[in-house]
Parts: sequence; structure tokens; C-alpha cells
Amino acid sequence: MRLLFNFIYLIGTLVFLLACANQQSSEFVVTSPSGNISLQFQLGDEGAPLYSVQYKGNALIQSSAMGFEFKDQPPLEKGLELVQKKVKSIKETWVMPWGEERNVLNFCNEMVVRLRETEAPQRCLNIYFRAYDDGIAFRYELPEQSGFKELEIMEEKTEFCLTGDHTCWWIPGDWDSYEHLYNTTKFSEIDALSKRNHPSLAQSYIPENAVNTPMTMRTAEGMHLSFHEANLTDYAGMTLRVDAEHLKMQTALVASDRLGYKVKRSLPFKTPWRMVQICPDAAGLIASKLILNLNEPNKLGDVSWFKPKKYVGIWWEMHLEKSGWDMAGGKHGATTENAKAYIDFAATNNIGGVLVEGWNTGWEHWIGFDDREGVFDFVTPYPDYDLEEVVRYAKEKGVEMIMHHETSAAPRTYDQQLEAAYGLMQRLGVHAVKTGYVGKIIPNGEYHHGQWMVNHYRRVLETAARYEIAVNVHEPIMATGIRRTLPNAVSREGLRGQEFNAWSSDGGNPPEHLSIVAFTRMLAGPIDFTPGVFNIKLDPYKPNNQVNTTLAQQLALYVVIYSPIQMACDLIENYENQPAFQFIRDVGVDWEQSLVLNGEVGDFVTIARQERGTGNWFVGGITDENSRSLTINFSFLKDGREYDGVVYRDRDDAHWRDNPESIVIEKMIVDKSMSQTFRLAPGGGVAMSLIVKE
Ligand code: NOJ
Ligand code: CA
Repeated sequence: MRLLFNFIYLIGTLVFLLACANQQSSEFVVTSPSGNISLQFQLGDEGAPLYSVQYKGNALIQSSAMGFEFKDQPPLEKGLELVQKKVKSIKETWVMPWGEERNVLNFCNEMVVRLRETEAPQRCLNIYFRAYDDGIAFRYELPEQSGFKELEIMEEKTEFCLTGDHTCWWIPGDWDSYEHLYNTTKFSEIDALSKRNHPSLAQSYIPENAVNTPMTMRTAEGMHLSFHEANLTDYAGMTLRVDAEHLKMQTALVASDRLGYKVKRSLPFKTPWRMVQICPDAAGLIASKLILNLNEPNKLGDVSWFKPKKYVGIWWEMHLEKSGWDMAGGKHGATTENAKAYIDFAATNNIGGVLVEGWNTGWEHWIGFDDREGVFDFVTPYPDYDLEEVVRYAKEKGVEMIMHHETSAAPRTYDQQLEAAYGLMQRLGVHAVKTGYVGKIIPNGEYHHGQWMVNHYRRVLETAARYEIAVNVHEPIMATGIRRTLPNAVSREGLRGQEFNAWSSDGGNPPEHLSIVAFTRMLAGPIDFTPGVFNIKLDPYKPNNQVNTTLAQQLALYVVIYSPIQMACDLIENYENQPAFQFIRDVGVDWEQSLVLNGEVGDFVTIARQERGTGNWFVGGITDENSRSLTINFSFLKDGREYDGVVYRDRDDAHWRDNPESIVIEKMIVDKSMSQTFRLAPGGGVAMSLIVKE
């Protein structure tokens, strides 16, 4: 009798447990508002946290592990039980003070799971999961708990298990630089280590076979995925280690070799979001605002002291070696007289800003020196540059100066001078600075993308904000959407920019470069690419280098590559008597809305953007090394309106190598019923302005 009772009890318990398990697995799903994307969380064998992702019921990311390794503590990756689960929906519209569009919809479902170790020390771990219609994201939280105050993370153990050997567009997981060419290979063929020792990189450290993010992939079924992180705050930058055999990636955080850990934090804290953009078509990747929606709202309030603008500057001439940054070399570019010439040019050509590099002392001791600490001075101009007079002259002409601070990767020297440097800018009424971090970071053992530098870059942004200064960072930490929270983070480099065309030893950026960048680096945020080279062959300064696009593509980049500050980078004499320069005079820099009309990663892309305030539209289309025809359907134009259109397109004989400056400029009246097909040359483009007719 007792046996039977025990047996019935056992069966009953089993049925109950199975019911719980069933209920658990079905309850642990969060689905995007449209229902297309779902993210599933499970506690697997031994209480290991696992997640997977589906699109319309098909697996996109297979069951993948989560967790941490710490210094002086056991790892946190199994032995967990569920304490609580909470779900909520988020739906809000927020306004970008400047951007690709005015209104952004943030619409998702969120699930938080609170976990605890079943055995001592019973540490707690929370995970936030979000499902959007354009991707998924999750982040860890180490909540406040007894006996666990501060920790040193030796590795984050987040996996992304792929469903196939997808086509990938990747750059190596370099801890010091994103300035690599993109590679197009199958996932299993990624070989980051072969990208070591690039002769044109002043700093580069690729410790293992990993990639930097954003990392974009296309599945055999044509789904597009892009992996990146959002809201990188007080944490190390993430690279993704490649496990070719198992078709999976695992987070490999950038370390501090000086401090002997990857991340050090006091509890409670949250990690950055790990995010995957998921789109059936490539164009959707660019349209997505997922990364911004994962960041916190604007903390600065009104930033109307920053005006999106085009700018010219004393810059390209140094890269061409027409002039130099330093004075001792005898051909100093940053003279009062030269600056005034650029200001005059800006004032008469609808260009709002002028950048002057090489204005301050220290450049004699820049690249190639190990003892760069204390060298650059951010308040003292060279004797042939009258800073006060230049700023006064610019004001008189209605032009804003953009300050330049090259730190030479000695951030402690910059930190010491921040308040003085920004105080000077405030006194002068200068509201923008371009910063630079060329070289190996001092102190030794730190890397551009580690926690220590992430915190430096953030401190700079926050300090600049107090002085109403917008920051454009070169050699930055990758954009992770912080511009939503701190809208003085206006632009950054973080890719192989135009400058490589002037001097890289590997032939410059190939014609396909920007048709990959638009679907990879650009997903992270605005790019200071510095388009606008008209003298494509760089005559007479660089007989062995050239820009590997047509002139029409250089124009199209003002629309395709988004930034609220857009340089017209060529020497001002190269813009003289150039009818095509009219496009740069006219083109907007701040947008009411942006539409990605078509695109395939690495092949071509066409974007139309409507200017804020005027209602004018601008269109840019670019292609890779292949000539192709792109059809633009103008149905996005306003009902019942006509537009004065000007087309800047490749002439039939144009070719990026043989005849890059061959361009046709045509006028036409356009309305929304029309569509037009344009032939783009190899390495070519098409640009169009559509001005609302009175
Ligand atoms: C590298 C930057 O990318 C470039 O724009 C700048 O001219 C030099 N550093 C000097 O600061
Ligand atoms: Ca650079």
C-alpha cells in the first residue's frame, strides 16, 4: 500500500515537474511586436543560461551560452535557477535633435529574468532580453548582493551560434584600430590573424582570430544579420572570437594588460547590450534605429548650440604632403593667412565650418616617438597662427571654427588639459572639436578599445558637453548609440577613411569599400569619412596614389554616408570653376527623414534624404567596381509638388581608374509620378538635388 502510494506520489511529482518545465519553456519567450522575431531563454543542463533566436519560426541563432569568468571567483555560467521573470512592452516616439530622421519609434517587448545560483555563494544575475521588429538585444545585470561588491571580469562568455556558414563582411578584431579594409568571406574562412602588421597602421593589435563589430552576415536564405553592441559604458569594447569549426562566435573583450583584467566594476551594474539586427533585406539594416533605441534618452537637453554643417579645412593638404602639421618642417599649413583663405571660401560657398589642424605646438614630436606624454599643448598656437584673429575673422564672415586636438594617444596629457582647452574654446565661442588618438596608447598595456579608454572617451564627451562643445573623434571607440544620450557626440572616424587614399601603401580604398561600409560601420553611427575629392588623381602631389571612385560617387557620398558634419575635404583651389561643386553647396546635412531605396551589401546602395526645414530631397547612389543601372522611383516626393532636379551622374566613358572625373550634370523637373534609371560607372555614383519649386 505504502509502495503504491509512493509510486503514485512519484508519478504525480513527475507530471507536475513536466508541466512546470513545459510552462517554463513556453513562458521564456519574448516576441517582437509584429510576431516575426522571437527570442527564447532556457536554463539548460546544470542550470546554464541559454538563448536562441527565431525569425518567422526558423532558427537564426541556435541555443547559445551566456555567462562570465572572473578573477578570484568561480565562473558564473551554470548552477542557476529562476527567481523571477517579468515582461513589459515599450512603445514611445522620441525626437532626434539632429539626425537621419526627426522622429524615432522605439517599439519592443522586454523580458527580464532574475537568476540565482542554487548553491553557495548563491550569486545573482539578471538578464534583460528585448525583441524588436528589426532585431534582438540582451544585456546582463549584476545586481547589488551581499558578499559580492566589486569584480574583475576576465571574460564575458556570450555565444552566438550560427545556423550555417554565412557570407560575412568583417574586419579583424583589432584592439587598437578599426581602420582595416572589409573582407568578404564565408564565416568558416575568417582569418583575422592574416591582417596583422598592416604597414599603414600606426597602431594595431590583433591577438586572436576574432572580428570587430558591427559584423554583417547574409544567410543562404537571404536573411541579413548584423552583430554589434549598444551603450558601451564603463566596460571593455567587444570583439567576437570566431570558432570556424562549430560555426559560432564568442565575446572576446578587450583587456587591460596593464591592470590584468578586462573589466572592473562595482555592483550593481549593467553590461552594454549585445544586439543582432535582423532584416530580410540589406536596406533594412541601414533604416534600423535599434542601436539608438537601446540607449538612454538625451541627458543634455537643448543642444541647439551645435548646428549640423558642412566644413572645409586645412587637412587634405597635409595628407597630400603639400604642407605639414608642424612648423619646423618649413611648410606649415596652419597659418593665419591660409586659415583666412579657407574661411573666405566657406563663407561664399554655403559651408558652415572650417577645421584647422596643426595650429598648436607639439607636432614636431608626433608619430614615431615613444615619449609623447606632455608633448601636445592644446592652448598654445604656433607663432604663425593667430588663433584669436582667425576666430574673429571667421565670426565676421559667419563661419564657425572647428578646433583640433591630436592627443597622439597620450590620453592622460589630454585629460590634464581638458578644462583649460575647453575653457579657451568657450571663451572664443567655438562649439566643435575634432580629436585624434594616433599611435599606441600610453601607458603601455592599454588599448584604444579597452575599458580604460572607453572611460576616457566618455569623460571627454561629458566634459565637452559642459562647455557646449560637440566632439568628432578620430581613432575613437566604436559608436554604440551614445549620441542619443549625449548628442554632442556628433561624429567619429572608426574606419578606413578617405585619408588612406592619399598615402596607404596598399593602393587606397578599393571601389567596393563604401558599399560595404554602408552596411557595416555605418550601422554603428555617423561617420566623418571626409568625402568630396574632386582632383581624383591627386595631381601633382601624389603620382602613385588616387581616390578609387568617380567624381559622381564623391558627391553621392554626402547622402549615402551619414554624418551631421560633412567635410568637403579637397584643396579649395580644386573646387574653383567646378560646376559639380554646386551639389556640395546645395546638399543638406540634417534630415527630416531618410529612405534606403535599394542596396546589396558590398555591391550598391541608394539613399534619399529629406532636409529638415526646407523639404528639399537629396539622393545618392553608389556602386562597387561594377558598372550597374539603378532605378530611382520618386514616389517618396510630396503629392502635388514639383521639384527642380539636378542630376550629377557618371558620363558613359567614366571609370574610377581611367576616367574618374567624367561627369554629366543635367537639370530636370521631377514629381512623384516619375522614375528614372541611371547608369553608374565602375566605382561610380549618382547624386541628385530636388529643390521644392515655389
Ligand atoms: C588621424 C586622423 O584620422 C586624421 O584625420 C588627422 O588629420 C590626423 N590623425 C592628425 O591628427
Ligand atoms: Ca585615422
